[in-house]
Amino acid sequence: MDFESAAADAVPEELYHPPKGFRERALIRSREEYDALYRESIEDPENFWSKQAEPFHWERKWTAPFCEYNFDMRKGPIVVNWFTGAQTNVSYNALDRHVKAGRGDKVAFYWEGNDVGISNTLTYKDLLTKVCKIANFLKSEGVKAGDTVSIYLPMITELPAAMLACARIGAVHSVVFAGFSAESLGDRLIDSRSRVLLTATGVLRGTKLVGLKQIVDEACERSAKGGHTVEKVVVYDNATAMKREDVQMVEGRDVWWQDAVEKQEDECEVVWMDAEAPLFMLYTSGSTGTPKGVQHTTAGYMVGAATTFKYIFDYHDDDVYWCTADCGWITGHSYMTYGPLLNGATCVVFEGIPTHPDAGRSWEIVDKYKVTVFYTAPTAIRALMRCGDEFPEKHSLASLRLLGSVGEPINPEAWRWYHSAIGHGKCPIVDTWWQTETGGIMITPLPGAWPLKPGSATLPFFGVQPAIVDEHGNELEGVCNGYLCIKRAWPSCMRTVRNDHARFEATYFQAYKGYYFTGDGCRRDEDGYYWLTGRVDDVINVSGHRIGTAEVESALVAHDICAEAAVVGYEHPIKGQGIYAFVSLMEGVQPSEQVRTALKAAVRQHIGAFATPDVIHWAPGLPKTRSGKIMRRILRKIASGELDALGDISTLADPSVVEVLVKNKGL
Ligand code: PRX
Repeated sequence: MDFESAAADAVPEELYHPPKGFRERALIRSREEYDALYRESIEDPENFWSKQAEPFHWERKWTAPFCEYNFDMRKGPIVVNWFTGAQTNVSYNALDRHVKAGRGDKVAFYWEGNDVGISNTLTYKDLLTKVCKIANFLKSEGVKAGDTVSIYLPMITELPAAMLACARIGAVHSVVFAGFSAESLGDRLIDSRSRVLLTATGVLRGTKLVGLKQIVDEACERSAKGGHTVEKVVVYDNATAMKREDVQMVEGRDVWWQDAVEKQEDECEVVWMDAEAPLFMLYTSGSTGTPKGVQHTTAGYMVGAATTFKYIFDYHDDDVYWCTADCGWITGHSYMTYGPLLNGATCVVFEGIPTHPDAGRSWEIVDKYKVTVFYTAPTAIRALMRCGDEFPEKHSLASLRLLGSVGEPINPEAWRWYHSAIGHGKCPIVDTWWQTETGGIMITPLPGAWPLKPGSATLPFFGVQPAIVDEHGNELEGVCNGYLCIKRAWPSCMRTVRNDHARFEATYFQAYKGYYFTGDGCRRDEDGYYWLTGRVDDVINVSGHRIGTAEVESALVAHDICAEAAVVGYEHPIKGQGIYAFVSLMEGVQPSEQVRTALKAAVRQHIGAFATPDVIHWAPGLPKTRSGKIMRRILRKIASGELDALGDISTLADPSVVEVLVKNKGL
């Protein structure tokens, strides 16, 4: 096992204590307070989580057993149930509950468009109306509880509203990030069997126009070829990006959002859902096969997202919270939409990119809305850090009191810059470790409670019991380094892979019996702090986007000039990891820039632009064992330039291929 430390430049004794003023006002003010609550969350989960569930409306209260789970395949099927017997509705709790309590005029969303000067404000009342109209439209199309609706929208407020509209009527949403290609979207439409798809004409990302409707048309065609017909496509006229006339509408299938949705009634009764009814599915990549539809359910996810949001972002009523994630990823679900709205928070929603029109845009937005809590990904921090201090220096940033990081390990250098240049030394940073599968944050600082170490996600959240195991699945104690597992179920844990429970069990519960296996490497230090060291499987994390190397390989070999491909990650100064592809070309095809461009285009077409390989390395042969297995360890070393640390190559079927690969580096 190769645990390269993401925190190689960490200084062990470097501690950042919560500033006094922050601590005094914090929800959790000390390690002792946390320890007591943590103990309760493990020893008496019913008591702990019932208290967290208290503020919500329960149409029917839970019965016994409060929580039931099996994480051990030897004892039977993997199963997780929370709040057994309860009924509730997530949309009601995120919206109606606040409006009924007289908080309807509070701002839910400050929406900031791609271009400076285009913005919009939505109160909780406005958002409720928007959600009801979409829900009524879906009902008019015959969408019922349990049906899946796909959403392929840019970051306009219609996107979280559409998610809440589905939740309102018990439909299961499947949001597909609007950077995925037609093929990826098509495959997700087939797998989720969505009859209705919500989309927009297009979107501007910086100066780049993305024609979403055209991608949708191709995706629907692909879906039809795969035996699934999308019956209704609702197109939001995103006039700031694209003209209506530039979009083709399909007679009988396509309708304009502004015509079909706006005219609906502005009230819509909620459908009370069982605690374990599916709320949404979200596709994510693993080491093998096609992306999995990770399924989350109603009550556990709701309470999990809300509770983590409240304590980790130390939520106060007067906060203005900005999470830069796109709703196409889990962070956009739990911490752009559900977590904050369930707490009645005011959020910023940004359509654009942090470098448009210049690298000061994020800081301008922070000042414009007086953002108090800012949550983003290390890749964005590194990119903005490179642009220089003059951008943040032009802005006051005085409103900020807490910063957050998510998606990949944050290197201490970026952490320190974030802390000083953005947080002016007075904002704690919550480095939050979690996954699509976990639904909510799992390992994280509680910002008023204990000191931070740059690069460490510190300690487990309430109810989370991590275990670091060795390759045989033995739990390691104290200071150690190994594979990160979780010992017991937490409320927002995924319940299954949509339509494939066997795959769910095989992926997460087979390797280490009795544990949920995260796929991450992890170290625990002498203070009990956890340090995530990156994926230990064939998943790479590129700018916080999770990509299976197998997916990129199959996109490459789908091109008829490519005979074989092997993809590995390598350290990238901004993206965290870059995509490094070793490619064997078909007999008679000569390596050239043109061939390289064609291969990159194939990946864009099959997956999306964000998965384009950074490096294509010509490989007349790949290093394989005698049984034909590709030795990725060697490829990783070549990719990272550690040519004198290739290790033992004598077990290769043909050791001479390595020499050729080394010679080809940089060509
Ligand atoms: O490797 C871990 C990394 O991102 C993976 C999960 O990716 P995804 O499901 O797309 O969810 C991303 C947003 C939660 C994890 O297995 N990861 C996420 N957060 C951190 C992290 N690695 C280190 N530190 C983090 N804070």
